[in-house]
Amino acid sequence: MNAYKTVLVTGGAGYISSHATLALLQAGFDLVVLDNLCNASAESLRRVAQLSGRAPVFVQGDIRDRALLDHLLAQHWVQAVLHFAGPKAVGESLAQPLSYYSNNVGGTVNLCQAMAAASVFTLLFSSSATVYGDSATVSITEDQPLGQITNPYGRSKFMVEQLLGDIVASDKRWRVALLRYFNPVGAHESGQIGEDPNGIPNNLLPFVAQVAVGQSPELAVFGHDYPTLDGTGVSDYIHVVDLAEGHLAALKAIYSCPGMEVWSLGTGNGYSVLQLVRAFEAASGRHVPYRLAERRPGDVATCYAHPGKAAAELNWISKRDLHSIMRDAWRWQSQNPDGYRG
Ligand code: NAD
Ligand code: UD1
Repeated sequence: MNAYKTVLVTGGAGYISSHATLALLQAGFDLVVLDNLCNASAESLRRVAQLSGRAPVFVQGDIRDRALLDHLLAQHWVQAVLHFAGPKAVGESLAQPLSYYSNNVGGTVNLCQAMAAASVFTLLFSSSATVYGDSATVSITEDQPLGQITNPYGRSKFMVEQLLGDIVASDKRWRVALLRYFNPVGAHESGQIGEDPNGIPNNLLPFVAQVAVGQSPELAVFGHDYPTLDGTGVSDYIHVVDLAEGHLAALKAIYSCPGMEVWSLGTGNGYSVLQLVRAFEAASGRHVPYRLAERRPGDVATCYAHPGKAAAELNWISKRDLHSIMRDAWRWQSQNPDGYRG
């Protein structure tokens, strides 16, 4: 039995959210998806409906549109909100900081005001391990001091975490989960939904996949002199379906947890860039040419989650290994070489 019945998913047509939407529909929730489609296609939701046999209500619109939010929250008797909406590209945030603060900070303020007006007080927020910054430890627990954040995207996530803490302190009716994702990768095992980046991808695995199908000539490996097993950066890559299941677990847990909770969602394992490339080659049978390049500013040598808090409190751990990630990423890429436009 689900404690909540109807959930609003902001940014619900996107990469992570489409997998979460599918998991929630399969678990019996009724969903309303609000997405302005600035970085997504409604085709993802059509496929989600096909896979689940149930369609979410879809409304194309912006989280900064207060009248629309008021209408949606009231009309659909929303009881909880999963808040994914917002841009996420670090480089773009350096060039367009106001857009990041407007969407991520302003959009969240607007959403919370509309929620409070409609007496909806449960919110799961898509935060990021980026708030840990350049941490002194490599296996990161939720309670460690947050680090030096090097870009407006990361700062906007940090600000939202802080403003959510303030509203929870001001009104005991709020139940807020800060979900700090590590590196979401892979795709649904059906090959029907996955990551469909606009233009040249910034993140590692989508770029590797594009090199494998010849859309880009080679991968630049950022940094080869880190103190790691092969000199390349080590990160915590989590299968997007495991991450989606983490949202389901958090939504169930937050029902009996007034206040604010923080959960890192990662695997607890780190893999280097070159390990990831080799695993992709093994799963795809394709060669991925690469060249060693300079370090990328803002990257750290090694960073992975300590997944103990989520395991204990959400009864959730990631189940899918690196091979499954690569197999599913390749199935999505090879079946949908042009993403949802194909
Ligand atoms: P995504 O771009 O695929 O999904 C975000 C969705 O929000 C898109 O569908 C986009 O069209 C929509 N959107 C953006 N601004 C909006 C607005 N103002 N109003 C309505 N809809 C809007 O990205 P994703 O990778 O699925 O990320 C989802 C969330 O998780 C984001 O908040 C992101 O910052 C966070 N996150 C992502 C990662 C990652 O590596 N992908 C890591 C940590 C945190
Ligand atoms: C990056 C962002 C992070 C954001 C997340 C989701 C930075 C410093 N961090 O995370 O704030 O929340 O994306 O959008 O931008 N790599 C290469 N070649 C590439 C791409 C990446 O070698 O072409 C390496 C990186 O140096 C890193 C690893 O691959 O060691 C993972 O990079 P990426 O996929 O961009 O994820 P993060 O850096 O963890």
